[in-house]
Amino acid sequence: MNFLETQVSTNLEWAIRHLQEGSLVAIPTETVYGLAGNALNHRSILNIFEVKNRPQTNPLILHVPNQEAAKKYLEEWPEWAERLSERFWPGPLTLLLKKNALVDPLITAGHDRVAIRVPSHRVCLELLEKLPFPLVAPSANPFSYISPTTADHVYHQLRGKIPMILDGGACVKGLESTIVGLHQGKPAIYRAGAIPAEHIESVLQMSVEKLYLENSNSTPTVPGSMLKHYAPGTPLILTDHPLDELRQFEGRRMALLLFSKPENFEMLQHCFFLSEHRDLEEAASRLYAVLQEIDRLNFDGIIAEKMPGTDLGNSINDRLWRASQN
Ligand code: TXA
Ligand code: MG
Repeated sequence: MNFLETQVSTNLEWAIRHLQEGSLVAIPTETVYGLAGNALNHRSILNIFEVKNRPQTNPLILHVPNQEAAKKYLEEWPEWAERLSERFWPGPLTLLLKKNALVDPLITAGHDRVAIRVPSHRVCLELLEKLPFPLVAPSANPFSYISPTTADHVYHQLRGKIPMILDGGACVKGLESTIVGLHQGKPAIYRAGAIPAEHIESVLQMSVEKLYLENSNSTPTVPGSMLKHYAPGTPLILTDHPLDELRQFEGRRMALLLFSKPENFEMLQHCFFLSEHRDLEEAASRLYAVLQEIDRLNFDGIIAEKMPGTDLGNSINDRLWRASQN
């Protein structure tokens, strides 16, 4: 592939022009940056797999500006989808629904369901509203590395491979969207994400199965739940007792990744805290940025503290656990 000059810019018109020409643009969303292309252009879709070095067996998410636009690409619009989208769109919820013939099979890896969402990032929504086609956009990282949450992360990961990064600031959610679809006739969570399972359950008024918990092997029956999917380069250990764990690594240069700073805690060197006030939303929004920072500092390993097992704590633990399965 030719080496491209990658521009980082806030210029929406340039982004529109690139996308209309079939080029790829990294775009901001409220979750993570996406690597976007025209969803109706087969060549653009192919190009996404190439640039990401992503196997074509791993399907892509379709991004649309609103519910009406979503229905244009769907064969069905069941009641559970109506309820969830009314509550969470625009926002970090992806629905798995039966696609119609307008959706290129390359997007869904041949499956009959398409993953679709309406993002809430202001710039992203404006872009989708102005374009005459929807965008397919996987996270803008090379396959199996952690997702970028700033334009700068994208630049370091994909520079020279795409013409433009549309800079929309740091992603406020910092974790990928939560994916919901039917499983054995009932709504189930396929990927933990920026909307906690509890919120999905409260809207549907039922408990839902968490399919991501079962996928601890590399066979993607739930595509994208491959273990190494969210891994930093540095080996990571996930534990309830990080300080005890640290003692086993004397003489090694280890990074400690903690939820917050413990009281009277002296050792600040090599320590990274996700949230001063133990706020899970803040911790989620900072997780990938902190992991990327640690990765750049060449530690021998990362010892990460397990988050509380509620709300976004579960989504963060899911990513940390995958990162630990190297
Ligand atoms: O927050 C997000 O969802 C971000 C932003 C950019 O929108 N996108 C994102 O895309 O995380 P990606 O490609 O990194 O992850 C998409 C996930 C994968 O786990 C994929 O396997 C799953 O969605 N997926 C996509 N289409 C699917 C389908 N038809 N059936 C089952 N899973 C699907
Ligand atoms: Mg991804």
